[in-house]
Amino acid sequence: MLFITQIRNPDHTDTMYENPRLILDSDEAPEPGRIVWRSPSNLAIIKYWGKYGAQMPRNPSLSLTLSASCTDMALEYSLKEVPDSRIGLGFLFHGEENAAFQAKIQAFLESLVPVFPFLTQLQMSIQTGNSFPHSAGIASSASSMSALALCLCSLEDALFGTLQEPAEFDRKSSFIARLGSGSACRSIFPHAAVWGASAAVPDSSDAYAVPAEHLLHPGFKDLHDDILIVSSQEKSVSSRAGHALMEGNPYAEARYAQAKSRLSTLIDALGAGDWEAFGKIAEDEALTLHALMMCSNPSYMLLEPNTIALIQKIRAYRAETKHPVYFSLDAGPNIHLLYPGEIIAEVRGWIEEELTPLLVDNWFIQDWVGEGPEEL
Ligand code: DP6
Repeated sequence: MLFITQIRNPDHTDTMYENPRLILDSDEAPEPGRIVWRSPSNLAIIKYWGKYGAQMPRNPSLSLTLSASCTDMALEYSLKEVPDSRIGLGFLFHGEENAAFQAKIQAFLESLVPVFPFLTQLQMSIQTGNSFPHSAGIASSASSMSALALCLCSLEDALFGTLQEPAEFDRKSSFIARLGSGSACRSIFPHAAVWGASAAVPDSSDAYAVPAEHLLHPGFKDLHDDILIVSSQEKSVSSRAGHALMEGNPYAEARYAQAKSRLSTLIDALGAGDWEAFGKIAEDEALTLHALMMCSNPSYMLLEPNTIALIQKIRAYRAETKHPVYFSLDAGPNIHLLYPGEIIAEVRGWIEEELTPLLVDNWFIQDWVGEGPEEL
């Protein structure tokens, strides 16, 4: 084991974790090992939409950590027999080769060599898969990039013992996950997380997310998120391209200011257990996200006719029953239906009866706010 002091430079967040000393001594060859993590997806209530530089957010975001929608990832490693400067990687997705996904992971690992220089000394193999089918049209980058970041931080700790302190382990995992996919940095924490510097959240940072479980009234820890599958097609415009279009969006500055102010209002609602205020922000944020897409140049639309039909049904049901049932949307047409666990029986009955005819193969994924990643 080698013990290395972390180099931290909070003023230069891009290079904050670069550490050329994390390199294995040739006399101390590690035993081959295996690390396995399960990491969930998350649903942003305040949306991250717009970024600059090395995955820096234009505004702070707050998300709820999900449970059922997750990625399992196993990382096996051994010392290379013949050292070279390349990343040695075998890769299987659901037990099969997947050249596109492998290339993405390979490029990401190459970009991380300044942070984890020991990666070039190892032969690695990754086996991964998602709990939700690829055809769900659900982005898997949050769960998969957070799972990968956790595996890499466990690997550093196994080789060097440098991440023994849990809060530091989480912070570095979140930092690495952010470099893979911005929203992934929030999946590291149980129940809820905030990413992006905000005066409303002490210690918050653009470079990593921080835990936000303490901001939740207990009622929000029993929040259900049933994901109504309106389309199982891959979306026509990636989130990456969507973020880039924010740079020319005439409403961008107003949007970033709005997100900051909505974050403060949301934090008040979450702390007070105020479902109505929470639901209003969740819906406003979802519609704002899609409005921004519709007024970017070129404009585009990811909503489908059945997305709109479902939104109307949700609002009518709420008006009629007074149940706190709200919607959110990611960058796609599928609806996230948000409600407290105490009304699950009524809501599920209504979904089965009224909503499933509008869904692909009557299909919805039952998810809920959960405990965050788990090492298996
Ligand atoms: C609409 O995290 O997928 O889900 O950083 O380019 O990987 P990249 O983008 P990504 O964007 C997510 C956008 C969103 C809102 C959110 O999760 O905050």
